[in-house]
Amino acid sequence: MIRQAIIPLAGLGTRLLPLTSVFAKELLPMHGKPGIEYILDECIDAGIKQVIFIISNKKKMIKDYFYSDKFYKKIIKKKKDPRIIKEYKKILKYKKMIKFVYQNKPLGTGDAVLKTKKYIKDNFFLMLLPDDLIIKNNCSKSMIKIHKKYKSSVMASMKVDKKSVSRWGIYKLNKKLTNSNYIIDDVIEKPSISEAPSDKAVIGRYILPKKIFSKLQNQKPGKGGEIHITDAIQSLIYNGSKFIAHNFSGKYLDCGSMDGYIKSSMEISKL
Ligand code: UTP
Repeated sequence: MIRQAIIPLAGLGTRLLPLTSVFAKELLPMHGKPGIEYILDECIDAGIKQVIFIISNKKKMIKDYFYSDKFYKKIIKKKKDPRIIKEYKKILKYKKMIKFVYQNKPLGTGDAVLKTKKYIKDNFFLMLLPDDLIIKNNCSKSMIKIHKKYKSSVMASMKVDKKSVSRWGIYKLNKKLTNSNYIIDDVIEKPSISEAPSDKAVIGRYILPKKIFSKLQNQKPGKGGEIHITDAIQSLIYNGSKFIAHNFSGKYLDCGSMDGYIKSSMEISKL
C-alpha cells in the first residue's frame, strides 16, 4: 500500500523570477487556488495519508500558509463569513496530513529526497514534483494501481519533442506490458539529442522504493553539479530493480516556467 507522499519544494524557482524573489511559486494562484493545493487534492484522492513537504528557510511561507490558525480564528470570530470558515476547514485538513522537513542548500532533487529518509515507513512511497500538474485524470491514483498489480516502482511518462530531450529525464523502454505501461531499461538525465534513447520523458510523479535512500547516500553530483533523483533511479535499474514507465492519460501542465505558468493558469480556468 502507498500511504506516504513526498513533495520537494526547496528549489529556487529561478525560471519564475521576479515572482520567486519574494514568493514561493507553489503558492502562486491557478484560478484562485495555490498550485500546491491541486497537488494535495491529487494525493488525497489517491488515498495518501501523509505528505512530507521538503522546504527551505527561504520558503517558510509555505509552512505559514498552513499554520495561520491565530489569524483565521480572529477573523472568523469577527466576521463569521461562511466562505472563510470553509477555507479554514480545508487548510486544517491539509495541515493535519503534512509534515515539514528542511533542505536549506538546494543541492538537487536527490538530496531533497534524502532528507525524508527517516520518515518513510513502507517499502514504497509516492513523490510528486509540484511544477508538474496533471489534470483531467488522477495520475498518482493510476500509478498506485499499476504498482499494486506489478509490485514495481512506477514513473509517469510522456512523449516530448525530440529537440527538447535535453530538458528532461529520458527513458529507454524495454518490454511493453500494456498499451500505456513499459518496463524501463534505463533513464538518462538531460541527455543531448544524440545520447537520448527515446523521446519519452519522465514527468514528476514517481513511486519509489525505500532502498533508493541507500543509493542517494553515496550519490555524486551529476549534470549541472546537482544530485539528481534520476541518477539514483538509473543506478537501481542497473542493479536489477524493476521500474515501469506509465503513459498517463491526463493532461500535463508545466507550471515551472513563466510561459508555462501563464498557459497552465488559463487552461485550469477552463475546467
Ligand atoms: P527544478 O530544478 O526543476 O526547479 O526542481 P526549481 O529549482 O524549483 O526551479 P528553477 O529551475 O530554478 O526555475 C524540481 C523540483 O525539485 C525541487 C524544486 O522545488 C521543484 O519542486 N528541488 C529542486 C528541491 O526541493 N531541492 C533542490 O535542491 C532542487
